[in-house]
Amino acid sequence: MLNIALDGPSGSGKSTVAKIIAKKLDILYLDTGAMYRACALEALYRGVNCLDEGAVESFINEIDLKIVYENGAQKTILRGEDVSQKIRQNEVSMMASNISSLPCVRKKMVEMQRDVARGVDCILDGRDIGTHVLPDAEFKFYVTARPEVRAERRYKELTEKGQTVEYDKILEEINVRDYNDSHREFSPLRQAADAILLDTSEMTIDEVTEFILSKVKK
Ligand code: DC
Repeated sequence: MLNIALDGPSGSGKSTVAKIIAKKLDILYLDTGAMYRACALEALYRGVNCLDEGAVESFINEIDLKIVYENGAQKTILRGEDVSQKIRQNEVSMMASNISSLPCVRKKMVEMQRDVARGVDCILDGRDIGTHVLPDAEFKFYVTARPEVRAERRYKELTEKGQTVEYDKILEEINVRDYNDSHREFSPLRQAADAILLDTSEMTIDEVTEFILSKVKK
């Protein structure tokens, strides 16, 4: 079984790279961040504060969330609706970071992630894949980049999608999310002891992809 864990902070380029690798190796790709984003959207639909543990706990186990694949591409389905685009909105990002700090949410999402990954060759990207979701993954990478570089990438991505955003605000949000994601109590963002560290600040997507593929092919 080929399991690849790709962890790192937001904007490190890991999801772009994971998608390319999944395609090249013809294996399944799971973007676990999309699942936490969908939880945040569900909280928004219900008018629930993402840090209100009691309120989130009351719905999380019944969340109508499904991950499906269409022509190899992951689609996130919430309440029967394809929310793959909606969950990318910038306002959902901070909410996702908040809701992902709750143990009840992580427990449920990790269960779902392991169900998707069970018995198939796959690459998962997230924050805790190598440390918690798939601790026995054969290949683990921790992909990062300087915050300014990651903010620049996110700014470009969002403006290309037609969203109006400010670079300084994105950078500030990235710093806050980095802090939240790496300081939460329950499976924080952290490099697994056996993960290969890759700083992509000065690397192109192709270079990162080639590097990972060269390790996996060996
Ligand atoms: O990768 P992303 O930006 O789409 O993730 C959104 C949020 O979800 C991020 O702030 C942290 C959280 N997350 C997590 O805690 N664990 C994961 N495996 C993936 C994402």
